[in-house]
Amino acid sequence: MVSRVIPVEVFDLVVFGGTGDLARRKILPGLYRRFLSGQMPGDSRIIGAARAEHTDEEFRSLVKEAILEFVPENRQDQTAIADFMKRLHYVAIDAKGEGGWAKLKEVMRTDVVNAFYFSVAPSLFGDIALRLKQHGIADDNARIVVEKPFGRDLASAKALNATLAKHFNEGQIYRIDHYLGKETVQNLMAVRFANILFEPLWKSEYIDHVQITVAETVSVEGRGAYYDKSGAMRDMVQNHMMQLLCLIAMEPPYHFDPDAVRDEKLKVIRALDPVQPNDIVRGQYLSGGGQGGYVEHSENEQSKTESYIALKAHISNWRWKGTPFYLRTGKRLRARASEIAITFREPPHSIFDDAKGWRENVLVIRLQPDEGMNLMVMIKEPGPGGMRLAQVPLDMTFADALGPDAEDVPDAYERLIMDVIRGNQTLFMRGDEVEAAWAWTDPIIAGWEARGDKPQGYDPGSSGPEDALMLMHRDGRRWRDIR
Ligand code: NDP
Ligand code: BG6
Repeated sequence: MVSRVIPVEVFDLVVFGGTGDLARRKILPGLYRRFLSGQMPGDSRIIGAARAEHTDEEFRSLVKEAILEFVPENRQDQTAIADFMKRLHYVAIDAKGEGGWAKLKEVMRTDVVNAFYFSVAPSLFGDIALRLKQHGIADDNARIVVEKPFGRDLASAKALNATLAKHFNEGQIYRIDHYLGKETVQNLMAVRFANILFEPLWKSEYIDHVQITVAETVSVEGRGAYYDKSGAMRDMVQNHMMQLLCLIAMEPPYHFDPDAVRDEKLKVIRALDPVQPNDIVRGQYLSGGGQGGYVEHSENEQSKTESYIALKAHISNWRWKGTPFYLRTGKRLRARASEIAITFREPPHSIFDDAKGWRENVLVIRLQPDEGMNLMVMIKEPGPGGMRLAQVPLDMTFADALGPDAEDVPDAYERLIMDVIRGNQTLFMRGDEVEAAWAWTDPIIAGWEARGDKPQGYDPGSSGPEDALMLMHRDGRRWRDIR
């Protein structure tokens, strides 16, 4: 397979919060990788901006350290790193004050793409948007990238949308959900809409249920203060898992075009039924394995915040009525494993009366690790002895299929940043989508707050709380193993 790097225009990208954790771990190493792949043309530049005073040289050292820490060794090319350093600049700026803005205006070029990545606390988004406009730094062609969390409920998301809308139009606002930048997540759209095989079966008549799992082994240690105010519902379900659900459930858009795709996702979110209290299970990891439990990590002994959630969602439309979507996500689970599993129904009639071993067809889309797809199909078990059926996987591991090119597959952040430079909003959330997702989430959270529900404890390294198993068992189904 031939690697195809689609060039972008020359750009100036300002990373507000360019010295912060996200910039160090994801944004700047990702940009280096795009540079290495020849996707940072001409004299494109990255300008770090934060309050602390740094010279360009100091910022470059910080970025170099981040590359050495977060880019795999076999991609650390010393000559390329040295060249990349020349693209980096720094301006000390206070989002809440006037210092630094005049300097930023002086540094920015007006004849190249201008993009501004808000990698700072959401409470600063409005201040930065205002000052970019007040100081005449961002014009109507500029793009802004905003990080999650986008609000913590419908009211705050609406307020944030309104604040940004005072200074930028919707076509300029790129709301990041990094799950949309993952290779396999996009592959989901390719599988659905570039093949004739699946689409005719993609409906409740043929699909029994869908499972979406995002299991993590990490704890919330180090992020406890943020996480305790958020919990798995706000941190993962309202955004990442909702986006996955939308891509599985949406109608075919008329074109792979930003608004066509986002219109279809929005219709799915609006068709979601309210979740009944007995269709949702919340969990909190206990201490174990030599590590503290959630309450120690969050430093809140009374915390009722969930680090695990499992729920059953229903979509009330013609395509999906009668097919439940089971979602689960949690920290400190048995394995890091994210996948979507689509379980098909039984054939309407079996001609193999005596056949043993029949199992449902399942399409498994593995997001991470070991990205790939598996279609579980039935065959005759080879050899004599009558008709015995066996389930075998039609396996497509992307790393095998792509060969050496697999190494060059961009990570979610780098891909999304390049889309910002290209001006392509397809993989970014629109304001109304985010609001609709909160409108579905808010009553769920309000319900358990009103009832004072406590999450059920679960052992670290397990597959989550007992009640989550029951959520499936009582429907005669079972979760797939987390491994
Ligand atoms: P950090 O606290 O690590 O970094 C914050 C950055 O903002 C620093 O560079 C800081 O530098 C700068 N900053 C703080 N106050 C100001 C100010 N008044 N004016 C200008 N710059 C300021 O945060 P993260 O990098 O972790 O998070 C950034 C954003 O990304 C947040 O919205 C977060 O929710 C989101 N996010 C982070 C993830 C992560 O893994 N870290 C994952 C998903 C989203 P200085 O103090 O010098 O000003
Ligand atoms: C972030 C959440 O958005 O996504 C984290 O805030 C979570 O809590 C992370 O760990 C998971 O992302 P990934 O790409 O590692 O699956």
